[in-house]
Amino acid sequence: MKNKNFKRYTVTSALPYANGPLHIGHLAGCYIPSDIYVRYLRSNDRDVAYVCGSDEHGVAITIKAKKEGITPQEVVDRYHEIMKKSFEEFGISFDHYSRTSAKIHHETAAGFFKDLYEKGEFLEQVTEQYYDEEAGQFLADRYIEGTCPKCGHDGAYGDQCEKCGSSLNPTDLINPKSKLSGSTPVLRETKHWFLDLARYTDFLKNWILVEHANDWKNNVLGQCRSWLEAGEGLQARSMTRDMDWGIPVPVEGAEGKVLYVWFDAPIGYISSTKEWAAQKGIDWEPYWKDEETKLVHFIGKDNIVFHCIIFPAILKTHGGYVLPENVPANEFLNLEGDKISTSRNWAVWLHEYLEEFPGKQDVLRYVLTANAPETKDNDFTWKDFQSRNNSELVAVFGNFVNRAVVLTHKFFDGQIPALAELNDFDRDALAALQEYPEKIAASIERYRFREALSFVMDFARVGNKYLADTEPWKTIKEDQERTGTILNIALNIAANLAVLAEPFLPFTAAKMFDMFNLKGLKWQDTGRQDLLQAGQKINAASLLFEKIEDNVVEAQVNKLMESKKQNELANAKAAPMKDIITYDDFAKLDMRLVKVLTAEPMPKSKKLLKLTVDTGLGVRTVLSGVAEHFKPEDLIGKQVTMLINLAPRKMMGVDSEGMILMAEDRDGSLRLLNPDRPTADGSTIS
Ligand code: 2FM
Ligand code: ZN
Repeated sequence: MKNKNFKRYTVTSALPYANGPLHIGHLAGCYIPSDIYVRYLRSNDRDVAYVCGSDEHGVAITIKAKKEGITPQEVVDRYHEIMKKSFEEFGISFDHYSRTSAKIHHETAAGFFKDLYEKGEFLEQVTEQYYDEEAGQFLADRYIEGTCPKCGHDGAYGDQCEKCGSSLNPTDLINPKSKLSGSTPVLRETKHWFLDLARYTDFLKNWILVEHANDWKNNVLGQCRSWLEAGEGLQARSMTRDMDWGIPVPVEGAEGKVLYVWFDAPIGYISSTKEWAAQKGIDWEPYWKDEETKLVHFIGKDNIVFHCIIFPAILKTHGGYVLPENVPANEFLNLEGDKISTSRNWAVWLHEYLEEFPGKQDVLRYVLTANAPETKDNDFTWKDFQSRNNSELVAVFGNFVNRAVVLTHKFFDGQIPALAELNDFDRDALAALQEYPEKIAASIERYRFREALSFVMDFARVGNKYLADTEPWKTIKEDQERTGTILNIALNIAANLAVLAEPFLPFTAAKMFDMFNLKGLKWQDTGRQDLLQAGQKINAASLLFEKIEDNVVEAQVNKLMESKKQNELANAKAAPMKDIITYDDFAKLDMRLVKVLTAEPMPKSKKLLKLTVDTGLGVRTVLSGVAEHFKPEDLIGKQVTMLINLAPRKMMGVDSEGMILMAEDRDGSLRLLNPDRPTADGSTIS
């Protein structure tokens, strides 16, 4: 690890594709961790540029446009706005949120390509690429799906398997299929510009596996190692695509081709910084070019190869740019035991959460950090969300702060009481107050946000326990001075807690600063026991957290279950056809419309209803296995379809003289078959 004091920080979080709204997987993967890190840096008065933007190119966008029957521009315009607004409301404090369709980005990315082109870095090669003859176009990246050669996953894309994180070439896929037409693509020749990654192997091995062997996360080093050391090593990768959506390849003979989205997207961090600096009237260059800048990329694990191998190779070749000091990638977050999926609508959507849980941004921030997939995939459950809120945020953090503030109002009219003589409880609490800021800072600096947050909560526990041990509500009866000391210390713990919690729970910290009439406190102020001094006034307690009831989380689980059901229904296949029969076989069936006269449950049977029906030829008794789908009153008076010449059968002591026919939907639910206009009972069906 380089032990360096950096002058400034450039912090990036992965540019999200503008092809759908944000969900909790995105938040836990890179936006919450980067926001915590940046808020902590700002609290330490470090010079930071925190940049992001919408990733508006690539097949992810064009596929969405095709699916919705709109243009790619309409897709990115829609989702760019939704994401930008959700980030703001959720308190992700980007200095700048740009988009890759911006002119400055087109120029910057094209400039990088030209620079590498002029240096002769690209291998210009005519190769065979998959082509969809039905759709009449080459199939880049996600236009192809097939089986991953590395892990056997069936839905791997032409550029990447999201299951195992492997980066792929379309021709690596087993049994490739076009996403446009479903047909098997053919190979056709086309010219592209390849980056010969093998040439960077020694540099990358040394930079990542030696220089950063001790400060990069194990999951990141592991993936890099397998890229750099396994099998045939790094392969040349095409940096261009046959597509009409994207940044045109800025060299001659490249008509109809655009830059590969993974060539242009990371350069988006640079364009976003340029835009930000221009708006502020400052120079962007030190944030990318000065050796004293610490560049940190926050990403999810599926982006590791692009940020640790390909982008650094591009930056290195271009020259003049710093390389990332760290790439703290997270693993994946699952939801209620299943992989989060946009297409299956198995997600907690940020914009919906913000609407359904107004003012509760910090609860989600807390849960997603406490349970962050920092070292392995993790699971979000609504039950865990509820229990962390109720037993940690409400019962510990909120309870402590609330008691300190309420008692100060009750016993001292909202004026901070003076400190008097200290006892062991006081000394222990004040020792913790000095100890925690450093502990929390050390974890944040090592990108261990879960651990850092657990220390913040432990510090709140110290405060809560201090009040429980010292019982100011009892001491007030005979010793006002002692009570004053306790509340002075408790309030100073709470004021410190506000600063220490701010990177994680910014909305809560803001409410606490308001309560305490404190402004502009920074990390360097923590550890002090006189942030609030005797005689100062504090404001009334405001509610920090409130209990979340069972019905609230049950409603969320039901919402998920409903979307799972809808998805299964949409994807369920019709039952396969039965064996062919002759007309004579069919003609033997006597099916009629009949009227249900009476219906009642069959004693001791969950499934059967006993019906009497008017067949037009007389009244019959029929047992029907529909009790789980219909109540008797749903059927009485209705016309239903019946096979009347089925041999009678005795069931549970009753002769059933026929069979009621119904349609079965894909989820197994039953529907009556009704004629489209009034029809006489006993009418035949043929
Ligand atoms: O995986 C993704 O969602 C990409 N849009 C991330 C891009 S990160 C960066 F390079 F811009
Ligand atoms: Zn795979």
